Amino acid sequence: MLFDADGFVTRCRAALGAADVLTALSAVVAEALVHRAALVSAIAPGHGMRVSVLCERPELTVVQFVTPKGFAFPPHDHAMVSAVGVYAGAEENVYYEADAAGLRETGRRLVATGEVAVHAADVIHSIASAGDEPLAALHVYGGDFFHAERSEWRGSPFARHDYDTARLRALAASGRRCLATACRQRVAETADRAHVDRVK
Ligand SMILES: [Fe+2]
Repeated sequence: MLFDADGFVTRCRAALGAADVLTALSAVVAEALVHRAALVSAIAPGHGMRVSVLCERPELTVVQFVTPKGFAFPPHDHAMVSAVGVYAGAEENVYYEADAAGLRETGRRLVATGEVAVHAADVIHSIASAGDEPLAALHVYGGDFFHAERSEWRGSPFARHDYDTARLRALAASGRRCLATACRQRVAETADRAHVDRVK
């Protein structure tokens, strides 16, 4: 069975119009994870980083991210609602609130294979690939994930910076192919360890 990327994008778009967007998105992503084998066949976990953009529109971005063991990304916000569904490996989330000192940790959650996490637009979190296998996940964002103005925090103590969306777009543009017809799509496949190290 193949992963129905078109159908998934259509269901994500419908969820964004629901009264309770986060609950609706969570249900759509959870249903996709039932077909884990199909997801793995569409973009299998590997040793490098892979980015497959299933939909890139002003109101909706859908991406499959595969990140290698040890990958980590510093604290950031999204400025839009989001959902992540893990179909291989596990994602460690650390949540924060911004304060005068920079950031204050407010909680943690390990999102295991088969689980979904949803985030309101103002959530700040860092992520890391946990465990011994690559992390592969579906990510759904209720906006233009690759261009929206948002924030990231770096340094010690953490200091706010404008999010480097150019870095993200460069990663996604490093290779492309179409997986679905409903939206413009991109696939980037790279084992660029230098990039991974740079974003840690
Ligand atoms: Fe995030």
